[in-house]
Amino acid sequence: MSKLVGSIDQGTSSSRFLVFDVNGNVVTSHQIEYSNTFPQPGWVQKDPSDLLKSVLDSIEGCCSELFKLGYSVKDIASVGITNQRETTVAWDSETGEPLTDAIIWSDTRTREVVQRLVAKDKDNKIPAICGLPITTYFSASKMIWMLENVESVKEAKEKGTLRFGTVDSWLLYKLTGKHITDATNASRTMLMDIHTLKWSPEACEFFGIDGSSLPEIRSSSEVYGNILHGSLTGVPIAGDLGDQQAATVGQLCFSPGEAKNTYGTGCFMLFNTGTSPIFSKNGLLTTVCYQLGPNEKPVYALEGSIAVAGSAIQWLRDKLGIISSAPEINVLAESVADNGGVYFVTAFSGLFAPYWRDDARGCIVGLTQYANRGHIARATLESVCFQTKAILDAMNADSGANLTVLRVDGGMTNSDIAMQIQADLLGIDVLRPEMKETTAFGAAIAAGLAVGFWKDKNDILSQTKSTQFSPSISEKERESLIAGWDRAVKKSLESA
Ligand code: G3P
Repeated sequence: MSKLVGSIDQGTSSSRFLVFDVNGNVVTSHQIEYSNTFPQPGWVQKDPSDLLKSVLDSIEGCCSELFKLGYSVKDIASVGITNQRETTVAWDSETGEPLTDAIIWSDTRTREVVQRLVAKDKDNKIPAICGLPITTYFSASKMIWMLENVESVKEAKEKGTLRFGTVDSWLLYKLTGKHITDATNASRTMLMDIHTLKWSPEACEFFGIDGSSLPEIRSSSEVYGNILHGSLTGVPIAGDLGDQQAATVGQLCFSPGEAKNTYGTGCFMLFNTGTSPIFSKNGLLTTVCYQLGPNEKPVYALEGSIAVAGSAIQWLRDKLGIISSAPEINVLAESVADNGGVYFVTAFSGLFAPYWRDDARGCIVGLTQYANRGHIARATLESVCFQTKAILDAMNADSGANLTVLRVDGGMTNSDIAMQIQADLLGIDVLRPEMKETTAFGAAIAAGLAVGFWKDKNDILSQTKSTQFSPSISEKERESLIAGWDRAVKKSLESA
Protein backbone atom coordinates (compact mmCIF):
# COMPACT_ATOMS: atom_id res chain seq x y z
CA MET A 1 0.00 0.00 0.00
CA SER A 2 1.28 3.48 -0.88
CA LYS A 3 2.47 5.54 2.05
CA LEU A 4 2.98 8.97 0.50
CA VAL A 5 1.49 11.70 -1.71
CA GLY A 6 3.59 14.18 -3.69
CA SER A 7 2.91 17.85 -4.36
CA ILE A 8 4.35 20.15 -7.02
CA ASP A 9 4.16 23.78 -5.82
CA GLN A 10 5.01 26.08 -8.72
CA GLY A 11 5.01 29.64 -7.29
CA THR A 12 5.99 33.05 -8.62
CA SER A 13 9.49 32.92 -7.13
CA SER A 14 10.24 29.22 -6.68
CA SER A 15 9.30 25.67 -7.59
CA ARG A 16 9.11 22.96 -4.98
CA PHE A 17 8.31 19.31 -4.69
CA LEU A 18 7.16 17.98 -1.32
CA VAL A 19 6.13 14.55 -0.14
CA PHE A 20 3.53 14.10 2.62
CA ASP A 21 2.62 11.08 4.73
CA VAL A 22 -0.95 10.14 5.65
CA ASN A 23 -0.86 12.38 8.75
CA GLY A 24 0.07 15.43 6.68
CA ASN A 25 3.72 15.47 7.79
CA VAL A 26 6.33 16.56 5.26
CA VAL A 27 8.65 13.59 4.72
CA THR A 28 11.05 15.48 2.47
CA SER A 29 11.07 18.42 0.05
CA HIS A 30 13.23 20.23 -2.46
CA GLN A 31 13.03 23.87 -3.57
CA ILE A 32 14.52 25.72 -6.56
CA GLU A 33 14.36 29.52 -6.35
CA TYR A 34 14.37 31.58 -9.53
CA SER A 35 13.89 35.18 -10.70
CA ASN A 36 11.48 36.55 -13.25
CA THR A 37 12.62 39.16 -15.77
CA PHE A 38 11.43 42.77 -15.85
CA PRO A 39 12.31 44.00 -19.37
CA GLN A 40 10.23 47.20 -19.18
CA PRO A 41 8.40 49.10 -16.41
CA GLY A 42 5.34 47.02 -15.46
CA TRP A 43 6.46 43.93 -17.42
CA VAL A 44 7.10 40.62 -15.61
CA GLN A 45 7.86 37.49 -17.64
CA LYS A 46 9.58 34.12 -17.58
CA ASP A 47 10.63 31.46 -20.09
CA PRO A 48 8.13 28.55 -19.63
CA SER A 49 10.94 26.05 -20.32
CA ASP A 50 12.80 27.42 -17.28
CA LEU A 51 9.65 27.08 -15.18
CA LEU A 52 9.31 23.46 -16.30
CA LYS A 53 13.00 22.74 -15.65
CA SER A 54 12.76 24.14 -12.12
CA VAL A 55 9.81 21.80 -11.45
CA LEU A 56 11.59 18.75 -12.90
CA ASP A 57 14.76 19.56 -10.95
CA SER A 58 12.81 19.96 -7.71
CA ILE A 59 11.14 16.57 -8.29
CA GLU A 60 14.49 14.90 -8.94
CA GLY A 61 16.14 16.63 -5.94
CA CYS A 62 13.33 15.52 -3.64
CA CYS A 63 13.20 11.97 -5.00
CA SER A 64 16.91 11.44 -4.54
CA GLU A 65 16.49 12.36 -0.82
CA LEU A 66 13.38 10.20 -0.57
CA PHE A 67 15.05 7.16 -2.09
CA LYS A 68 17.98 7.63 0.32
CA LEU A 69 15.43 7.38 3.15
CA GLY A 70 14.51 3.93 1.85
CA TYR A 71 11.30 4.79 -0.04
CA SER A 72 10.68 3.90 -3.69
CA VAL A 73 8.46 5.35 -6.40
CA LYS A 74 5.85 2.68 -5.56
CA ASP A 75 5.32 4.39 -2.20
CA ILE A 76 3.89 7.48 -3.92
CA ALA A 77 0.15 7.07 -4.47
CA SER A 78 -0.31 10.19 -6.61
CA VAL A 79 0.93 13.73 -7.20
CA GLY A 80 -0.94 17.03 -7.02
CA ILE A 81 -0.09 20.31 -8.72
CA THR A 82 -0.58 23.76 -7.26
CA ASN A 83 0.57 26.84 -9.09
CA GLN A 84 0.84 30.60 -9.42
CA ARG A 85 -2.45 31.53 -11.07
CA GLU A 86 -3.35 33.71 -14.11
CA THR A 87 0.21 33.54 -15.50
CA THR A 88 -0.29 32.72 -19.16
CA VAL A 89 1.70 30.34 -21.35
CA ALA A 90 1.36 29.88 -25.14
CA TRP A 91 2.83 26.86 -26.90
CA ASP A 92 2.61 24.99 -30.18
CA SER A 93 0.92 21.59 -30.19
CA GLU A 94 3.12 20.39 -33.08
CA THR A 95 6.46 21.06 -31.40
CA GLY A 96 5.28 21.08 -27.77
CA GLU A 97 7.52 24.16 -27.33
CA PRO A 98 6.64 27.59 -25.90
CA LEU A 99 5.94 30.34 -28.45
CA THR A 100 6.98 33.22 -26.18
CA ASP A 101 7.75 34.02 -22.54
CA ALA A 102 4.98 33.44 -20.02
CA ILE A 103 3.33 36.70 -18.94
CA ILE A 104 3.30 36.64 -15.14
CA TRP A 105 0.08 37.47 -13.27
CA SER A 106 1.43 40.74 -11.84
CA ASP A 107 2.45 42.12 -15.27
CA THR A 108 0.61 45.33 -16.25
CA ARG A 109 1.59 45.62 -19.95
CA THR A 110 -2.02 45.02 -21.00
CA ARG A 111 -3.35 48.29 -19.56
CA GLU A 112 -4.34 49.60 -22.98
CA VAL A 113 -5.97 46.32 -23.96
CA VAL A 114 -7.94 46.49 -20.71
CA GLN A 115 -9.08 50.08 -21.32
CA ARG A 116 -10.42 48.98 -24.70
CA LEU A 117 -12.22 45.99 -23.22
CA VAL A 118 -13.78 47.98 -20.37
CA ALA A 119 -15.17 50.48 -22.91
CA LYS A 120 -16.52 47.61 -25.04
CA ASP A 121 -18.26 45.85 -22.13
CA LYS A 122 -20.84 48.62 -21.72
CA ASP A 123 -23.42 46.55 -19.82
CA ASN A 124 -20.87 44.93 -17.50
CA LYS A 125 -21.78 41.50 -18.87
CA ILE A 126 -18.34 39.93 -18.54
CA PRO A 127 -17.95 40.25 -14.73
CA ALA A 128 -21.41 38.70 -14.34
CA ILE A 129 -20.28 35.68 -16.39
CA CYS A 130 -16.86 35.08 -14.87
CA GLY A 131 -17.02 36.79 -11.44
CA LEU A 132 -14.00 39.02 -12.16
CA PRO A 133 -13.50 42.70 -13.06
CA ILE A 134 -11.72 43.41 -16.35
CA THR A 135 -8.14 44.18 -15.26
CA THR A 136 -4.57 43.37 -16.28
CA TYR A 137 -4.41 40.64 -13.59
CA PHE A 138 -6.31 37.85 -15.35
CA SER A 139 -5.28 35.65 -18.28
CA ALA A 140 -7.63 36.87 -21.04
CA SER A 141 -5.93 40.24 -21.60
CA LYS A 142 -2.53 38.49 -21.58
CA MET A 143 -3.72 36.10 -24.33
CA ILE A 144 -4.97 39.07 -26.40
CA TRP A 145 -1.62 40.83 -25.98
CA MET A 146 0.24 37.75 -27.22
CA LEU A 147 -2.12 37.38 -30.20
CA GLU A 148 -1.64 41.04 -31.12
CA ASN A 149 2.10 41.34 -30.51
CA VAL A 150 3.87 38.00 -30.96
CA GLU A 151 4.29 36.79 -34.55
CA SER A 152 4.76 33.10 -33.61
CA VAL A 153 1.52 33.15 -31.60
CA LYS A 154 -0.39 34.69 -34.55
CA GLU A 155 1.04 32.04 -36.92
CA ALA A 156 0.18 29.16 -34.58
CA LYS A 157 -3.37 30.49 -34.32
CA GLU A 158 -3.66 30.47 -38.11
CA LYS A 159 -2.27 26.92 -38.32
CA GLY A 160 -4.60 25.73 -35.54
CA THR A 161 -1.67 24.62 -33.37
CA LEU A 162 -1.89 27.37 -30.73
CA ARG A 163 -2.38 26.13 -27.18
CA PHE A 164 -2.97 28.47 -24.24
CA GLY A 165 -2.79 27.51 -20.61
CA THR A 166 -2.13 28.67 -17.09
CA VAL A 167 0.96 27.19 -15.44
CA ASP A 168 -0.83 24.04 -14.17
CA SER A 169 -1.94 23.35 -17.72
CA TRP A 170 1.57 23.83 -19.12
CA LEU A 171 3.01 21.45 -16.50
CA LEU A 172 0.26 18.85 -17.02
CA TYR A 173 0.88 19.02 -20.78
CA LYS A 174 4.60 18.45 -20.40
CA LEU A 175 4.27 15.80 -17.67
CA THR A 176 1.31 13.78 -19.06
CA GLY A 177 0.92 14.95 -22.68
CA LYS A 178 -2.67 16.15 -22.04
CA HIS A 179 -4.10 19.66 -22.41
CA ILE A 180 -6.09 19.99 -19.18
CA THR A 181 -6.75 22.52 -16.44
CA ASP A 182 -8.95 22.51 -13.35
CA ALA A 183 -11.92 24.72 -12.49
CA THR A 184 -10.01 26.83 -9.95
CA ASN A 185 -7.35 27.81 -12.48
CA ALA A 186 -9.90 28.25 -15.27
CA SER A 187 -11.84 30.60 -12.99
CA ARG A 188 -8.89 33.03 -13.18
CA THR A 189 -8.88 33.44 -16.96
CA MET A 190 -12.15 35.49 -17.38
CA LEU A 191 -13.19 32.91 -20.00
CA MET A 192 -14.99 30.41 -17.78
CA ASP A 193 -18.65 30.70 -16.85
CA ILE A 194 -18.50 30.71 -13.04
CA HIS A 195 -21.91 28.99 -12.81
CA THR A 196 -21.39 26.11 -15.28
CA LEU A 197 -17.59 25.66 -14.98
CA LYS A 198 -17.38 25.52 -18.78
CA TRP A 199 -15.68 27.91 -21.19
CA SER A 200 -18.24 30.64 -21.87
CA PRO A 201 -18.88 31.05 -25.63
CA GLU A 202 -19.93 34.66 -24.94
CA ALA A 203 -16.75 35.50 -23.01
CA CYS A 204 -14.53 33.72 -25.58
CA GLU A 205 -16.18 35.70 -28.37
CA PHE A 206 -15.89 38.97 -26.45
CA PHE A 207 -12.14 38.45 -25.92
CA GLY A 208 -11.57 36.89 -29.37
CA ILE A 209 -10.13 33.66 -27.95
CA ASP A 210 -10.74 30.48 -29.91
CA GLY A 211 -12.04 27.66 -27.65
CA SER A 212 -9.88 25.10 -29.49
CA SER A 213 -6.74 26.74 -28.07
CA LEU A 214 -7.97 26.28 -24.48
CA PRO A 215 -7.51 23.24 -22.21
CA GLU A 216 -10.29 20.90 -21.10
CA ILE A 217 -11.68 21.98 -17.71
CA ARG A 218 -11.74 19.15 -15.15
CA SER A 219 -12.40 18.95 -11.41
CA SER A 220 -9.57 19.65 -8.94
CA SER A 221 -9.37 16.04 -7.77
CA GLU A 222 -9.31 13.18 -10.30
CA VAL A 223 -6.70 11.23 -12.24
CA TYR A 224 -5.63 13.34 -15.25
CA GLY A 225 -2.85 11.05 -16.52
CA ASN A 226 0.43 9.39 -15.53
CA ILE A 227 3.84 11.07 -15.40
CA LEU A 228 5.72 10.17 -18.57
CA HIS A 229 9.37 10.63 -17.55
CA GLY A 230 11.86 11.02 -14.71
CA SER A 231 11.96 9.39 -11.28
CA LEU A 232 8.16 9.50 -10.93
CA THR A 233 7.38 7.74 -14.24
CA GLY A 234 3.99 6.03 -14.03
CA VAL A 235 2.71 7.95 -10.96
CA PRO A 236 -0.72 9.49 -11.59
CA ILE A 237 -1.23 13.25 -11.37
CA ALA A 238 -4.56 13.49 -9.57
CA GLY A 239 -4.87 16.97 -8.04
CA ASP A 240 -4.80 20.46 -9.54
CA LEU A 241 -5.58 23.70 -7.69
CA GLY A 242 -4.49 27.31 -8.02
CA ASP A 243 -2.13 28.04 -5.12
CA GLN A 244 -4.53 30.22 -3.12
CA GLN A 245 -7.31 27.69 -3.43
CA ALA A 246 -4.86 24.95 -2.44
CA ALA A 247 -3.91 26.89 0.70
CA THR A 248 -7.61 27.19 1.58
CA VAL A 249 -7.94 23.40 1.24
CA GLY A 250 -4.64 22.88 3.10
CA GLN A 251 -5.94 25.02 5.99
CA LEU A 252 -9.04 22.75 5.93
CA CYS A 253 -11.39 25.72 5.39
CA PHE A 254 -14.14 23.37 4.20
CA SER A 255 -17.09 25.18 5.82
CA PRO A 256 -18.78 28.34 4.58
CA GLY A 257 -17.56 31.33 6.60
CA GLU A 258 -13.99 30.01 7.04
CA ALA A 259 -11.15 32.11 5.62
CA LYS A 260 -7.38 32.11 5.22
CA ASN A 261 -4.80 34.68 4.17
CA THR A 262 -1.60 33.56 2.41
CA TYR A 263 1.43 35.88 2.32
CA GLY A 264 3.53 34.79 -0.67
CA THR A 265 4.92 36.89 -3.51
CA GLY A 266 1.49 38.54 -3.33
CA CYS A 267 -1.08 38.10 -0.56
CA PHE A 268 -4.51 36.55 -1.01
CA MET A 269 -7.46 36.14 1.35
CA LEU A 270 -10.09 33.55 0.44
CA PHE A 271 -13.42 33.23 2.22
CA ASN A 272 -15.40 30.00 1.65
CA THR A 273 -18.96 30.93 0.57
CA GLY A 274 -20.30 27.40 0.00
CA THR A 275 -21.84 25.94 -3.15
CA SER A 276 -23.24 29.17 -4.65
CA PRO A 277 -21.13 31.96 -6.10
CA ILE A 278 -21.56 35.27 -4.26
CA PHE A 279 -20.91 38.48 -6.20
CA SER A 280 -19.11 41.21 -4.29
CA LYS A 281 -20.30 44.79 -3.96
CA ASN A 282 -16.99 45.79 -2.40
CA GLY A 283 -14.24 44.98 -4.88
CA LEU A 284 -13.70 41.28 -4.12
CA LEU A 285 -13.48 38.51 -6.71
CA THR A 286 -15.77 35.52 -7.11
CA THR A 287 -13.71 32.43 -7.67
CA VAL A 288 -13.97 28.64 -7.60
CA CYS A 289 -12.45 27.50 -4.31
CA TYR A 290 -12.34 23.78 -5.14
CA GLN A 291 -14.26 20.96 -6.77
CA LEU A 292 -13.00 17.81 -5.10
CA GLY A 293 -14.11 15.26 -7.71
CA PRO A 294 -15.92 15.23 -11.07
CA ASN A 295 -19.24 14.39 -9.39
CA GLU A 296 -18.83 16.82 -6.51
CA LYS A 297 -20.44 20.25 -6.36
CA PRO A 298 -18.02 23.14 -6.75
CA VAL A 299 -17.39 25.27 -3.67
CA TYR A 300 -16.88 28.99 -4.23
CA ALA A 301 -14.93 31.72 -2.46
CA LEU A 302 -14.78 35.47 -2.26
CA GLU A 303 -11.20 36.57 -2.75
CA GLY A 304 -9.26 39.69 -1.83
CA SER A 305 -6.01 39.87 -3.79
CA ILE A 306 -2.96 41.99 -2.95
CA ALA A 307 -0.39 42.08 -5.76
CA VAL A 308 2.70 42.80 -3.69
CA ALA A 309 3.78 41.16 -0.42
CA GLY A 310 7.01 39.11 -0.47
CA SER A 311 7.97 40.84 -3.73
CA ALA A 312 8.31 44.14 -1.80
CA ILE A 313 10.78 42.47 0.55
CA GLN A 314 12.68 41.12 -2.49
CA TRP A 315 12.68 44.68 -3.87
CA LEU A 316 14.23 46.05 -0.65
CA ARG A 317 16.88 43.33 -0.94
CA ASP A 318 17.58 43.27 -4.70
CA LYS A 319 16.85 46.81 -5.90
CA LEU A 320 17.36 49.09 -2.86
CA GLY A 321 19.91 46.87 -1.12
CA ILE A 322 18.83 47.97 2.37
CA ILE A 323 18.70 44.34 3.52
CA SER A 324 20.89 41.46 2.38
CA SER A 325 18.45 38.63 3.15
CA ALA A 326 14.67 38.55 3.50
CA PRO A 327 14.57 37.72 7.27
CA GLU A 328 16.68 40.84 7.94
CA ILE A 329 13.56 42.93 7.38
CA ASN A 330 12.26 41.71 10.74
CA VAL A 331 15.39 42.77 12.63
CA LEU A 332 15.16 46.22 11.03
CA ALA A 333 11.41 46.55 11.62
CA GLU A 334 11.89 45.58 15.27
CA SER A 335 14.58 48.26 15.69
CA VAL A 336 11.92 51.00 15.67
CA ALA A 337 8.96 51.49 18.01
CA ASP A 338 6.51 52.44 15.26
CA ASN A 339 6.42 53.53 11.62
CA GLY A 340 7.58 57.09 12.48
CA GLY A 341 4.85 58.48 10.20
CA VAL A 342 6.23 56.61 7.16
CA TYR A 343 3.80 54.75 4.86
CA PHE A 344 4.86 52.67 1.85
CA VAL A 345 2.14 51.93 -0.72
CA THR A 346 3.74 49.05 -2.62
CA ALA A 347 1.64 49.52 -5.77
CA PHE A 348 4.27 48.08 -8.14
CA SER A 349 1.54 46.41 -10.24
CA GLY A 350 -1.16 48.98 -9.58
CA LEU A 351 -3.43 48.33 -6.62
CA PHE A 352 -5.56 45.19 -6.55
CA ALA A 353 -8.48 44.55 -4.18
CA PRO A 354 -10.48 46.38 -3.10
CA TYR A 355 -9.13 49.37 -5.07
CA TRP A 356 -8.60 47.84 -8.58
CA ARG A 357 -6.49 50.65 -10.01
CA ASP A 358 -4.06 49.43 -12.71
CA ASP A 359 -2.62 52.93 -12.90
CA ALA A 360 -1.65 53.33 -9.20
CA ARG A 361 2.09 53.45 -8.63
CA GLY A 362 4.21 52.75 -5.57
CA CYS A 363 5.10 55.59 -3.21
CA ILE A 364 6.73 56.17 0.17
CA VAL A 365 5.17 59.08 2.05
CA GLY A 366 5.73 60.82 5.38
CA LEU A 367 9.52 60.95 5.18
CA THR A 368 11.40 63.33 7.49
CA GLN A 369 15.08 63.35 8.34
CA TYR A 370 14.10 61.31 11.40
CA ALA A 371 13.17 58.31 9.21
CA ASN A 372 15.66 55.47 8.89
CA ARG A 373 15.90 52.00 7.30
CA GLY A 374 13.93 50.56 10.21
CA HIS A 375 10.94 52.76 9.44
CA ILE A 376 11.02 51.78 5.76
CA ALA A 377 11.25 48.09 6.70
CA ARG A 378 8.34 48.44 9.10
CA ALA A 379 6.29 50.41 6.56
CA THR A 380 6.87 47.59 4.03
CA LEU A 381 5.42 44.96 6.39
CA GLU A 382 2.61 47.34 7.38
CA SER A 383 1.67 47.91 3.75
CA VAL A 384 0.56 44.27 3.34
CA CYS A 385 -1.23 44.40 6.70
CA PHE A 386 -3.13 47.61 5.83
CA GLN A 387 -4.24 46.12 2.51
CA THR A 388 -5.35 42.96 4.34
CA LYS A 389 -7.41 45.17 6.67
CA ALA A 390 -9.12 46.83 3.67
CA ILE A 391 -9.94 43.36 2.30
CA LEU A 392 -11.26 42.09 5.62
CA ASP A 393 -13.60 45.10 5.84
CA ALA A 394 -14.85 44.34 2.31
CA MET A 395 -15.39 40.67 3.22
CA ASN A 396 -17.30 41.57 6.37
CA ALA A 397 -19.48 43.95 4.35
CA ASP A 398 -20.14 41.40 1.58
CA SER A 399 -20.83 38.46 3.88
CA GLY A 400 -22.82 40.44 6.46
CA ALA A 401 -20.89 38.73 9.27
CA ASN A 402 -17.68 39.74 11.01
CA LEU A 403 -14.75 37.37 10.79
CA THR A 404 -13.47 36.81 14.33
CA VAL A 405 -10.22 35.04 13.57
CA LEU A 406 -7.93 34.94 10.53
CA ARG A 407 -5.89 31.85 9.68
CA VAL A 408 -2.61 32.75 8.00
CA ASP A 409 0.19 31.02 6.14
CA GLY A 410 3.03 31.76 3.69
CA GLY A 411 6.56 33.16 3.97
CA MET A 412 5.81 36.46 5.73
CA THR A 413 3.96 34.65 8.53
CA ASN A 414 7.36 33.45 9.80
CA SER A 415 7.75 37.02 11.00
CA ASP A 416 6.31 37.47 14.49
CA ILE A 417 6.46 41.25 14.17
CA ALA A 418 4.50 41.18 10.90
CA MET A 419 1.81 38.95 12.41
CA GLN A 420 1.56 41.14 15.54
CA ILE A 421 1.17 44.23 13.30
CA GLN A 422 -1.49 42.30 11.37
CA ALA A 423 -3.50 41.47 14.53
CA ASP A 424 -3.15 45.08 15.72
CA LEU A 425 -4.43 46.52 12.44
CA LEU A 426 -7.27 44.01 12.02
CA GLY A 427 -8.43 44.13 15.63
CA ILE A 428 -9.01 40.34 15.59
CA ASP A 429 -6.88 37.30 16.45
CA VAL A 430 -4.47 35.96 13.85
CA LEU A 431 -3.83 32.20 13.94
CA ARG A 432 -0.62 30.76 12.47
CA PRO A 433 -0.62 26.94 12.20
CA GLU A 434 2.55 25.09 13.11
CA MET A 435 2.41 23.13 9.84
CA LYS A 436 3.32 25.86 7.37
CA GLU A 437 3.13 23.91 4.10
CA THR A 438 -0.58 24.52 3.65
CA THR A 439 -0.45 25.32 -0.10
CA ALA A 440 1.42 22.16 -1.04
CA PHE A 441 -0.69 20.16 1.41
CA GLY A 442 -3.89 21.36 -0.31
CA ALA A 443 -2.72 19.93 -3.65
CA ALA A 444 -1.66 16.72 -1.89
CA ILE A 445 -5.14 16.46 -0.33
CA ALA A 446 -6.77 16.78 -3.77
CA ALA A 447 -4.41 14.16 -5.25
CA GLY A 448 -4.79 11.83 -2.26
CA LEU A 449 -8.60 11.96 -2.22
CA ALA A 450 -8.73 11.11 -5.94
CA VAL A 451 -6.93 7.78 -5.47
CA GLY A 452 -8.37 6.75 -2.10
CA PHE A 453 -5.20 7.61 -0.13
CA TRP A 454 -7.61 9.46 2.16
CA LYS A 455 -11.21 8.19 2.16
CA ASP A 456 -12.83 11.61 2.46
CA LYS A 457 -12.23 15.06 3.90
CA ASN A 458 -12.98 13.84 7.46
CA ASP A 459 -10.14 11.35 7.14
CA ILE A 460 -7.59 14.20 7.03
CA LEU A 461 -6.21 15.09 10.43
CA SER A 462 -6.71 18.74 11.34
CA GLN A 463 -3.72 20.66 12.54
CA THR A 464 -4.16 21.31 16.19
CA LYS A 465 -1.09 23.35 17.06
CA SER A 466 -0.96 27.03 16.16
CA THR A 467 0.35 30.35 17.46
CA GLN A 468 -2.14 33.09 18.19
CA PHE A 469 -1.44 36.83 17.82
CA SER A 470 -3.97 39.09 19.55
CA PRO A 471 -4.55 42.83 19.05
CA SER A 472 -2.49 44.96 21.44
CA ILE A 473 -3.29 48.54 20.41
CA SER A 474 -6.31 50.71 21.18
CA GLU A 475 -9.11 51.38 18.70
CA LYS A 476 -7.97 55.02 18.59
CA GLU A 477 -4.40 54.09 17.64
CA ARG A 478 -5.74 51.71 14.97
CA GLU A 479 -7.96 54.40 13.48
CA SER A 480 -5.13 56.90 13.36
CA LEU A 481 -2.82 54.41 11.57
CA ILE A 482 -5.54 53.53 9.06
CA ALA A 483 -6.23 57.22 8.38
CA GLY A 484 -2.50 57.64 7.62
CA TRP A 485 -2.62 54.68 5.24
CA ASP A 486 -5.71 56.03 3.45
CA ARG A 487 -3.91 59.34 2.87
CA ALA A 488 -0.92 57.48 1.43
CA VAL A 489 -3.15 55.46 -0.92
CA LYS A 490 -4.57 58.75 -2.26
CA LYS A 491 -1.01 59.87 -3.07
CA SER A 492 -0.35 56.59 -4.85
CA LEU A 493 -3.41 57.21 -7.02
CA GLU A 494 -2.34 60.81 -7.66
CA SER A 495 1.05 59.60 -8.91
CA ALA A 496 -0.82 57.53 -11.53
O1 G3P B 1 -2.78 35.05 -8.25
C1 G3P B 1 -1.40 34.98 -8.13
C2 G3P B 1 -1.01 33.98 -7.09
O2 G3P B 1 -1.51 32.73 -7.41
C3 G3P B 1 0.47 33.99 -6.86
O3 G3P B 1 0.75 33.35 -5.69
O4 G3P B 1 2.17 32.64 -3.80
O5 G3P B 1 3.20 33.13 -5.98
O6 G3P B 1 2.25 34.95 -4.52
P1 G3P B 1 2.20 33.55 -4.98
